[in-house]
Amino acid sequence: MTAAPRPMIVGVVGAGTMGAGIAQLALQAGHEVLLNDLDEAAIARGRDRIASGLDRLVAKGRMDADEAGAALVERLRDAHGLDTLAAEADVVIEAALEDLDLKRTIFRALDSAAPASTLLATNTSALSVTEIASSTQRPERVVGLHFFNPAPVMALIEVVQGELTSAATMQAGLEFSGGLGKTAVTCRDAPGFIVNRVNRPFTLEALRMVDAGQATVESIDSAVEAAGYPMGPFRLMDLVGIDVNLAVARALHEAFDQAPRFRPSPRQEELVAAGRLGRKTGSGFYRYGADGPASGEANHPAGGRGPSGEPLAEADIVERIELAIINEAYHAIGEGVCSPEDADIALKLGAAHPHGPFERAGMLGLRTVVEALARLAASGEMDARERFTVAPALWGMATF
Ligand code: 3HC
Repeated sequence: MTAAPRPMIVGVVGAGTMGAGIAQLALQAGHEVLLNDLDEAAIARGRDRIASGLDRLVAKGRMDADEAGAALVERLRDAHGLDTLAAEADVVIEAALEDLDLKRTIFRALDSAAPASTLLATNTSALSVTEIASSTQRPERVVGLHFFNPAPVMALIEVVQGELTSAATMQAGLEFSGGLGKTAVTCRDAPGFIVNRVNRPFTLEALRMVDAGQATVESIDSAVEAAGYPMGPFRLMDLVGIDVNLAVARALHEAFDQAPRFRPSPRQEELVAAGRLGRKTGSGFYRYGADGPASGEANHPAGGRGPSGEPLAEADIVERIELAIINEAYHAIGEGVCSPEDADIALKLGAAHPHGPFERAGMLGLRTVVEALARLAASGEMDARERFTVAPALWGMATF
């Protein structure tokens, strides 16, 4: 049995879905939590999210009702200012909007008020930890702690090493993550880290198939779920937030010099412009009622198939997504982002895939993977050549 972590004071900046989930985890681990957001109403909404998260655990008999009540009353405190939060906290986790200027402003404020020993962490999805850290006088004490949605459920944290993050800070990040009951993998401060990069084709390839009229939102979700994934790409985007998914896609597209394989889909852009952000607004690729997802063809506002494409078979839909993920995983290890073992762990625990990309490649055989990618690259579809060009590290390993 692992020892309970030393109780600490954990400051959480941002009380939205991720911030509240992280705060809940810290309370479950026995820490005290200081919760900050722009105003009292936002903090109150965060408190409600945390309370309903703890209620779930009580309902399942995983937490005692008195303990949950005490956690909310005695160990969760509102923090109205970043300065007071930073002065008191041992660890601060920033989970604000994905806006570099905003995050840099927050870190400057934290830096000026926090003691030198405070661990400063960002939960950024796809911004650079190094750039965020450079707004402080202590970049060696800044680390990425990247959680996955829903944070209380997904078992992974990516511990991201900025260019100047010290080894001691990485160790502190790993220990803190372990104390929350999560598995931690380390990765370099590269765009999208591991999961948000390697798993990008899960949503982007799905969107391309719909955009090209080769499949519908429902047919893709049902094919992918039948293959053992807990959620199809469209249900996943609705869960995470189409705005959040689009922000990650845009950040990667920019970071990779607008490589076509990372190009966001116009369908995402349209939904975000229309305020259909997924579950949180009651409508995204599907519509949601008060009791959860509403199903049925008539209920989805953004499904349908474009006019032209030849419908793809279920197996082809899944194969295309998996091949693109495997290829991206080879790109990532070729660039030294992480080890193949950590990529497998990350995709299985951070995105609940039934197998890691390298495990899947092993099951299919590298020769089959390369040949299938070559076929897709030659298909004549939009950007197919770039999207499916075999990653150099994969060429290097496949034997013919
Ligand atoms: N909060 C807390 N607990 C939740 C929850 C939530 N929002 N949603 C589900 N749960 C719990 C349920 O209570 C249940 O717990 P139990 O097993 O202890 O009873 C468990 O999770 C499974 O839930 P359900 O049975 O209701 O539903 P599913 O089996 O479909 O699981 C899921 C839901 C865990 C969300 C699963 O579908 C899944 O793993 N989906 C993939 C999620 C994913 O890929 N996340 C990563 C997104 S990328 C990201 O976050 C990075 C960011 O930077 C964008």
